[in-house]
Amino acid sequence: MPGFLFFLFCFFLASSQHITISFSADTLTSTQILLTNQTLISPSQVFALGFFPGTNSTWYLGTWYNNINDRTIVWVANRDNPLENSNGFLTIAENGNIVLTNPSMKKYPVWSSNATTKANNNNRVLQLLDTGNLVLREANITDPTKYLWQSFDYPTDTLLPGMKMGWNLDTGVEKHLTSWKATGSDPSSGDYSFKIDTRGIPEIFLRDDQNITYRSGPWNGERFSGVPEMQPNTDTITFDFSYDKDGVYYLFSIGSRSILSRLVLTSGGELQRLTWVPSRNTWTKFWYARKDQCDGYRECGPYGLCDSNASPVCTCVGGFRPRNLQAWNLRDGSDGCVRNTDLDCGRDKFLHLENVKLPETTYVFANRTMNLRECEDLCRKNCSCTAYANIEITNGGSGCVTWTGELIDMRLYPAGGQDLYVRLAASDVDDIGSGGGSHKKNHIGEVVGITISAAVIILGLVVIFWKKRKLLSISNVKAGPRGSFQRSRDLLTTVQRKFSTNRKNSGERNMDDIELPMFDFNTITMATDNFSEANKLGQGGFGIVYRGRLMEGQDIAVKRLSKSSMQGVEEFKNEIKLIVRLQHRNLVRLFGCCIEMHERLLVYEYMENRSLDSILFDKAKKPILDWKRRFNIICGIARGLLYLHHDSRFRIIHRDLKASNILLDSEMNPKISDFGMARLFGSNQTEANTSRVVGTYGYMSPEYAMDGNFSVKSDVFSFGVLVLEIITGKKNRGFYYSNEDMNLLGNAWRQWRDGSALELIDSSTGDSYSPSEVLRCIHVGLLCVQERAEDRPTMSSVLLMLSSESVLMPQPRNPGFSIGKNPAETDSSSSKKDESWSVNQVTVTLLDAR
Ligand SMILES: *[C@@H]1O[C@H](CO)[C@@H](O)[C@H](O)[C@H]1NC(C)=O
Ligand SMILES: *[C@@H]1O[C@H](CO)[C@@H](O)[C@H](O)[C@H]1NC(C)=O
Ligand SMILES: *[C@@H]1O[C@H](CO)[C@@H](O)[C@H](O)[C@H]1NC(C)=O
Ligand SMILES: *[C@@H]1O[C@H](CO)[C@@H](O)[C@H](O)[C@H]1NC(C)=O
Ligand SMILES: *[C@@H]1O[C@H](CO)[C@@H](O)[C@H](O)[C@H]1NC(C)=O
Ligand SMILES: *[C@@H]1O[C@H](CO)[C@@H](O)[C@H](O)[C@H]1NC(C)=O
Ligand SMILES: *[C@@H]1O[C@H](CO)[C@@H](O)[C@H](O)[C@H]1NC(C)=O
Repeated sequence: MPGFLFFLFCFFLASSQHITISFSADTLTSTQILLTNQTLISPSQVFALGFFPGTNSTWYLGTWYNNINDRTIVWVANRDNPLENSNGFLTIAENGNIVLTNPSMKKYPVWSSNATTKANNNNRVLQLLDTGNLVLREANITDPTKYLWQSFDYPTDTLLPGMKMGWNLDTGVEKHLTSWKATGSDPSSGDYSFKIDTRGIPEIFLRDDQNITYRSGPWNGERFSGVPEMQPNTDTITFDFSYDKDGVYYLFSIGSRSILSRLVLTSGGELQRLTWVPSRNTWTKFWYARKDQCDGYRECGPYGLCDSNASPVCTCVGGFRPRNLQAWNLRDGSDGCVRNTDLDCGRDKFLHLENVKLPETTYVFANRTMNLRECEDLCRKNCSCTAYANIEITNGGSGCVTWTGELIDMRLYPAGGQDLYVRLAASDVDDIGSGGGSHKKNHIGEVVGITISAAVIILGLVVIFWKKRKLLSISNVKAGPRGSFQRSRDLLTTVQRKFSTNRKNSGERNMDDIELPMFDFNTITMATDNFSEANKLGQGGFGIVYRGRLMEGQDIAVKRLSKSSMQGVEEFKNEIKLIVRLQHRNLVRLFGCCIEMHERLLVYEYMENRSLDSILFDKAKKPILDWKRRFNIICGIARGLLYLHHDSRFRIIHRDLKASNILLDSEMNPKISDFGMARLFGSNQTEANTSRVVGTYGYMSPEYAMDGNFSVKSDVFSFGVLVLEIITGKKNRGFYYSNEDMNLLGNAWRQWRDGSALELIDSSTGDSYSPSEVLRCIHVGLLCVQERAEDRPTMSSVLLMLSSESVLMPQPRNPGFSIGKNPAETDSSSSKKDESWSVNQVTVTLLDAR
């Protein structure tokens, strides 16, 4: 105690000679103090150092961008030692360290730097650099390697360009990011950290307290294995991951100082790369993690592969099966997979997986000079080796990593992943090689194709969008491939992990963070040739759809929403943000929107083969749809609908599922469009009763049409109608016809009971169908259109029934058609050639259907 008092005494003695700084300086000398209402400004005015208030009238010392009005704090000195009031100040103490002091607090110093001490402080200065680094140095020594102390060695939640995170293996000093307790208000250390683990092959782990929630994957020479969207370095941005015997570091650099970019770990546990967009005066999220369910650590357990484009997302590596089938079917893959056949060391073979995120590399053997063949030999000889791979992908691949034990946290990418060789019993590899595997391969190829083309489209769009907004400087950063691609991924992916324990960082709170891609009205006008009649693709209850071509040649579909019953701009934007986040290979992608005066436009991907009804109900075109394609379409719609109902974060009831809302891509893969429209038009209850019935007669369930009751089961009904239409190639004319022959559902039901259901199949499909598959589909269709909503299956059961021969299906009860009401139908589709699809094309909106 006496020592402390003595020190305090000396301190005040010393500080009586201090003078406060009075102008915008970048440097604090040993004779100056910085009060809580003063700042240091870096030489080119990029960063400021000063005090900012926290909660409970506390004060913190930190640095922020000087020219951004909405203060963005990038470093905090005393995050866990706040000043209790604004009477504090910063100074260089006698011992040469910078200290934060508050005379009215007992504690001295409140906070201090960690530089080597020294007898007198005369020569030391504290300077704020334009990089944001706050450095303590001798006044006449500017060599960066001689800094006595620097804030870049003590990161808080933000990594700035040029700032390293990682390990100095000599000294054991380690730097990592730790989130704020509450971003924006409470800078004290939060639960989340982002830290390099040097064991095995170094990786960066995002942790919630001790629990890993995400890992970057090992660095493969070009990028992290778990961030395939990272592009090779350019002049404007470079990523660097260095490892040698002295240290392991990650850092990034930006070529131009005028571009502000940072990597931040939010208090919600999301890692974000943000770049300042001056023209819009906001930070824009260029990349973030976790992006989707598959980014969740161990989402699919040992030997499980997560594929965010599949539903369910978890699959087993070939030669493995789910360990807990029941949980697996309930979409909880965390128990992972087990081998079909035990290994037999010497006779085992290796299964080649492509485009994966390598399994966790904490406990692996690695040798950076061995090649793939030596690696295989090594693994083959060691019976406990379960997999091997190249470490680096550059120059055709180099280095060798081998796993023993379980392979954890793998995911499958559409593109940009790595090759992995998994040890299997020879018989399993042979099986996959002949039968089962080829199917899987095709599937992957298909996904790759689709996703790549989509990515290219989005990339084009976003680049155009940026250019349009004159964000040339940003385009230069990397709104070239990386920026735009990452950004578009931001926009278009995010799937909630449904059964995982880490709900709290799944991102509900981040809803507001998402960037809404806005298109310029003039761009759209030009793209659609001023909404010309020639570009009109179709018309529905929600508005007219136009084909458009952006200047760079990219095709889009533009929906110009009808002006009635429109929400306010903010509400509308929020709904769009939601819809933009729904992403599935069987949903049409929404690229963005345009809001101008009274105009509301939605911009979608363009689908080459237009809508299902234009082919299915057209006598000339329908033969294109052989049974294989029809079955594929049925399963695709089911998957898309399942995603809307169960797998997406927001339960969406489509409410207007019909053949004209099923679009087909160039390979005849179905994509559901117009989902979420009910929300845009202002009624967002999920299971409720509404006086405004939105939907299309012929597809509407009885309870919805008559009473306005809607639920997922109303969508299931519409799906059942669609299935029967796809099988028969005939349009359901509405349930109000009492004559069964006129009514598709009644007819199907009668033939089913008579045992002649196979006659239902459209003769245009030829003889190529499998009778059991057709019967199963009819069975499913009839189950879906049962009159009582509670009798109808959920979409997950539907998918199970469609995909498995062995599932036992209940007998269908009578379909919901025998209701003798003939609603006033408005049919404005006058120009249709084929009578068979002229009815019920129009989405009707009935007020007070009851
Ligand atoms: C800062 O606060 C001190 C006292 O706390 C006061 O004397 C001084 O005028 C203030 N300076 C500015 C620029 O507000
Ligand atoms: C602020 O004060 C309240 C009440 O004393 C306390 O519960 C809360 O934890 C404090 N907040 C911080 C950030 O210290
Ligand atoms: C100062 O450095 C020592 C040893 O390097 C370390 O243990 C301590 O936590 C550091 N203190 C602060 C406040 O950074
Ligand atoms: C810096 O200044 C100190 C004291 O004036 C002096 O002893 C030292 O040699 C100087 N160092 C350099 C590199 O000029
Ligand atoms: C970490 O995981 C354990 C075991 O799964 C769990 O009990 C605990 O709540 C988790 N901690 C956090 C902070 O999520
Ligand atoms: C890596 O493999 C090469 C070639 O087999 C060998 O010469 C070298 O000693 C190995 N290095 C280590 C660290 O095991
Ligand atoms: C097999 O590999 C493991 C892990 O690298 C190692 O501990 C073990 O000694 C190896 N066994 C043999 C027989 O080389």
